[in-house]
Parts: sequence; structure tokens; C-alpha cells
Amino acid sequence: MRRFGTLLRRWFRANGRDLPWRKTRDPYRILVSELMLQQTQVSRVVPKYAEFLETFPTLHDIARARPKRVTEAWSGLGYYARARNLHALAKVVTDRGRNPYATLPPDAVSLRELPGVGAYTAGAVSSFAYERRAELVDTNVARVLKRVFAPDLVIKSTSGQKRLWAVARELLPRTGKATWTHNQALMELGALVCTARVAHCEVCPVRTVCATFAAS
Ligand code: ADE
Repeated sequence: MRRFGTLLRRWFRANGRDLPWRKTRDPYRILVSELMLQQTQVSRVVPKYAEFLETFPTLHDIARARPKRVTEAWSGLGYYARARNLHALAKVVTDRGRNPYATLPPDAVSLRELPGVGAYTAGAVSSFAYERRAELVDTNVARVLKRVFAPDLVIKSTSGQKRLWAVARELLPRTGKATWTHNQALMELGALVCTARVAHCEVCPVRTVCATFAAS
């Protein structure tokens, strides 16, 4: 378990992509990136992300805008429920636009109470914006953890999900700062190496500790 994290983070420091949302710790900007990335590929998100943040630089700007303007700025990304949820969230957090300094809460439990924020998004904002020790599991992370630690696990089952979140929790490094790198690295390994179609084990940094590779 310890070895997995060490190998993973070392690989990320050398091979991680230089993506715009990895250069900020602004909770609002992190939230927007994670909402956009939920159903849309990175290459399509990058230009839209910059454009959206120019139109709405803060959560307060979203809260004060008409919902229609937010959905329009989201155009091309699809899944407009995400934009509507973002508007509802901005209203709640900024006290219906009255507090321009309001920010998102740092802990996953409080984040989860907000409109449109599920377990994954809560973990992402907590670890990527606040560098907290919060675990996260999305479809990419689930696939990586299953292949490395639990090849027989059924991802789409309640017990499988429970187990995946427990594994993700156990794997977290000691500090919040290392957790930022760790979670980005898990996502990156799933996106670049341990992909859905093919596992590129020949270039994988964690194959020496991987159950699926050992069985192949
Ligand atoms: N997909 C979802 N979150 C991501 C992130 N932080 N980096 C790359 N891809 C992602």
C-alpha cells in the first residue's frame, strides 16, 4: 500500500499534464473544473473552462447572474443540470448573492450538502482546493483501484463501491499536500496509462504492486 503511493506520486511528478486547474487552489475554480470534467473530455474542457471563468470570475458573479446566462456560458458542454446546480449552489453559499466574500467549505461532509455535489466532487474540492486529506473515487479511479488491489470486485455494486472508497481512504498519504498530488496522480494514471480500453502495463509505474499485472 505504501509502495503504491510512493511509485504513483513519483510517476505523476515526472509525467503529469500541466492542466489549468492544477495551477490554482481557488475552490470555485476547482469546482467548475470538476463539474465540467464529469462528463466531458479534457481537450474539450480546457478552452471552455478559460472562457467560462472570464465570464464568471467568482461564485458571487454566478449567484447574481440569471440562471439562463450561466447555462448559456455552459453551452457546448452538455449536461446542463450541472450548470443549473452550480447556480443553485452559488446562491446558497453566497446567501443569495448578499455575501461577495463567501467561499466553499473545506471539508467533504459540508461540501456534500450543496446542490449537485456528490461524494466524488466533495473529495475533489476538499483535496484539490484545500489540500485536505480527503479520498475520491470516480470511474477512472475505480478502475485503477480494482485492477491493482481487487480484481474480483464489482464496481457497479453497492459493496464494490463501499470497498473502493475504503481502499481509497487507506491509500491516502499522511499529509494534505501529498494528498493533492496523490489524487491528481490516481486520476492521471487512469486517464493516461490504466485506461478503460487497454491497460498499458508496459509503462505503468505501479505494475510491480498490481494484482492484475501479476495474474497476467
Ligand atoms: N477529471 C476529473 N478531474 C480531473 C483532474 N483534476 N485532472 C484531470 N482529469 C480530471
